[in-house]
Amino acid sequence: MSKTYTVAIVGATGAVGEAMLSVLAERQFPIGKLHLLASARSAGEKIEYGARKVVVEDLATFDPAGVDIALFSAGGAISKEYAPKFAAAGAVVIDNSSAFRYDDDVPLVVSEVNPEQAANRPRGIIANPNCSTMQMLVALAPIHRAVGIERINVATYQSVSGAGRSGMEELGRQTAAMLGFQTVEPKKFAVQIAFNLIPQIDDFLDNGYTKEEMKLVWETRKILGDDRIQVNPTAVRVPVFYGHSEAVHLETRGKISAADARALLEAAPGVEVVDDRAPGGYPTPVTHAAGTDPVYVGRIREDLSHPRGLDLWIVSDNIRKGAALNAVQLAELVVKERS
Ligand code: A2P
Repeated sequence: MSKTYTVAIVGATGAVGEAMLSVLAERQFPIGKLHLLASARSAGEKIEYGARKVVVEDLATFDPAGVDIALFSAGGAISKEYAPKFAAAGAVVIDNSSAFRYDDDVPLVVSEVNPEQAANRPRGIIANPNCSTMQMLVALAPIHRAVGIERINVATYQSVSGAGRSGMEELGRQTAAMLGFQTVEPKKFAVQIAFNLIPQIDDFLDNGYTKEEMKLVWETRKILGDDRIQVNPTAVRVPVFYGHSEAVHLETRGKISAADARALLEAAPGVEVVDDRAPGGYPTPVTHAAGTDPVYVGRIREDLSHPRGLDLWIVSDNIRKGAALNAVQLAELVVKERS
């Protein structure tokens, strides 16, 4: 019989946790025992996994002994408290929060970009990058390897599922209210999200950027292993349920033509080029990304305002490649080490 692994999902009832479960099933991950963990609120609920009905357990009272791989997606505070306990009990922790991403002794890994880093995990923790960084680097790593990237100007258009289940509920509730000519009360987001855009994701920092924006700066440098790369991000929340989009304007070290960039991207793992230069010949969150695995790239063109400028439009499902899929791909790397 082939080897199986005891897997725990922490935050199993959340938007990312639920997707982790679907991706594990789709990819036929070799699961032996499966533990679905959440808060005491959800303990006792039953969740289906293939033919199994798994009872949700309370993280606070769960004993991690015997867990081989733990996928965490219940927020930074929960990761900080519980991930070291799971790792001490012998589990490899794959953490989707920002709790450990910037620690030198925790690798930050995009499976198509720097998979070799996953094995170098002295604390038993591998960090899963932020969703916007993830999709951007799947597309940009091949370009960086070919000609070097000097500077990235990026504006993101991020869906509400990035804020978890409550973000999606807020967009649904506000949209219905507004269509019924009722007033809306913002709760999850700082201002109305239905029929609106919000140029703030996460908290503001002293330099005027938000934390979400600085994640793009810090994580890009760490994952590509190049502190010289300049990143200038603006992160915007948009009234889309699933799928983040990014308008990316690159300044490369060496000149690369749009045709050469396109050829590189067509050969890149995890990337699908959708670039017909005709109405609808580009990826959008709804028509391409939602519920699918690839990072889609379109609108590939040379920047007419810069001699080494290249423009791209990058779209991907933030819950899948941006979180759950990459986490499961990292778990697959751990399995590969052991087989
Ligand atoms: P619960 O459903 O019991 O609150 P999302 O990002 O979609 O909001 O999901 C967050 C996930 O993190 C959920 O599975 C949620 O469980 C879980 N979670 C939140 N707080 C805790 C906690 N104190 N202990 C364990 N899990 C938690």
